[in-house]
Amino acid sequence: MQMKGTQRINAAGHLEIGGCDTVELAREFGTPLYVLDEAQVRGLCREYLQQFGARYHHVMVAYAGKALLTKAICAIMESEGLHLDVCSAGELYTALDADFPPEHIKFHGNMKLAEELQMCIDNHVGLIVADSLPELGDINELGAGNGTVVDIAIRVSPGIKAQTHTYTQTGRLDSKFGLGVEYGAAMAGIVAASEMPHLALRGIHCHIGSPIFALESYERAVEIMVDLVADAREQHGIELADLNLGGGLGIRYTHEDAPPSIEHFAERLCGAVLRRCEERGIDPPTLTLEPGRSLVGEAGTTLYTIGVIKDIPGVRTYVAVDGGLSDNPRPALYGAQYEAIIANKANEPASRAVRVAGRHCEADTLISDTTVQEPECGDILAVFATGAYNYSMASNYNRFPRPAMVLVNDGEAELITERETLADLVRQDLVPERLRAQREVAEAE
Ligand SMILES: Cc1ncc(COP(=O)(O)O)c(C=O)c1O
Repeated sequence: MQMKGTQRINAAGHLEIGGCDTVELAREFGTPLYVLDEAQVRGLCREYLQQFGARYHHVMVAYAGKALLTKAICAIMESEGLHLDVCSAGELYTALDADFPPEHIKFHGNMKLAEELQMCIDNHVGLIVADSLPELGDINELGAGNGTVVDIAIRVSPGIKAQTHTYTQTGRLDSKFGLGVEYGAAMAGIVAASEMPHLALRGIHCHIGSPIFALESYERAVEIMVDLVADAREQHGIELADLNLGGGLGIRYTHEDAPPSIEHFAERLCGAVLRRCEERGIDPPTLTLEPGRSLVGEAGTTLYTIGVIKDIPGVRTYVAVDGGLSDNPRPALYGAQYEAIIANKANEPASRAVRVAGRHCEADTLISDTTVQEPECGDILAVFATGAYNYSMASNYNRFPRPAMVLVNDGEAELITERETLADLVRQDLVPERLRAQREVAEAE
């Protein structure tokens, strides 16, 4: 197991993150517990800005909040100089409530609600990324109604089948997202938007999918996107000042994953944009990136307590933990793979082959096959690389309260999301009067 960020094994033989003993964290905050390594997140933000900034004249990095969004995360991203990509009223509300500068927020979504668009306008959100032709008309009308001109970009579907799970190939022809280049919708949208008086068309956007390890997919997307910028200029005299290439860079979930470094990603992407712009004889537009997973994924670790250990002779050993599907649905959704360590035995050899099971009423497999230290009931299991699309995809399935999250840094652990309580679970429940009355009648009989 390769340690990442500030992870190390301390003198007690325990896994330590951000200078905090994870066994102590489990004791203090309970399990399941999401642990986020602040130094690692900040380091990766700086790496993006530095590597792209060194190779391109004007780069903006907008954190994709869908990966993991809380008010503390907003504060970290703002302090690192990142912009923010949100895609729902809830994400926007979180950002605004955290006082994230609205002019640095981009609002996405393939089917935005009228209330969400109005919320963007009321709060002076920096950019709305329009996803369809009708939506362009809707935003224009809202702009007219509010006496304003709305800054927009157009989401384009470049027709790329990125090498990743089909569920997350978002830039291919057969996708619900964006205006297709192949069938002329993208250019039609660009022309239509530029003629609408209450829209200011700032650029085009694509996101080809995630997690992506093969950078060729990006290079093909770049050619298509730069060609669109050049064609819009040549054929219609329309200037598209910003090129947003989305997020998607893969991370190291297991030792078998070898994602490109951010440096290599920057080199290939910037190189591809500059090359194509030169070939097409246009000035390079400003470049925007929207990484989510690659900023927070590896910085997150989930701590669980091991409960039941079940040996099936000749078959396998199941290790059941006190969470699962509700705090991490990715294995069930995509067959996602993870690796783990027994945090209180971190310096012991990991030689026991196990399947890590959650405790929900489904197969609920967290890790199908892995090797860990000799497991015992009460041990703390740390599952790595759970920072992205875990808390943000968490549910209350089986009425499980969502776990707490702590931010660790320099030996300090601070709660950034409280654990939900059982009372939280029934807070929204209502019982119609007639059902109460029915019970009273039954009791009276
Ligand atoms: C529009 C857009 N931008 C950025 C991202 C972030 O992708 P990732 O977390 O893989 O970097 C996504 C992910 O779905 C997305 O849809």
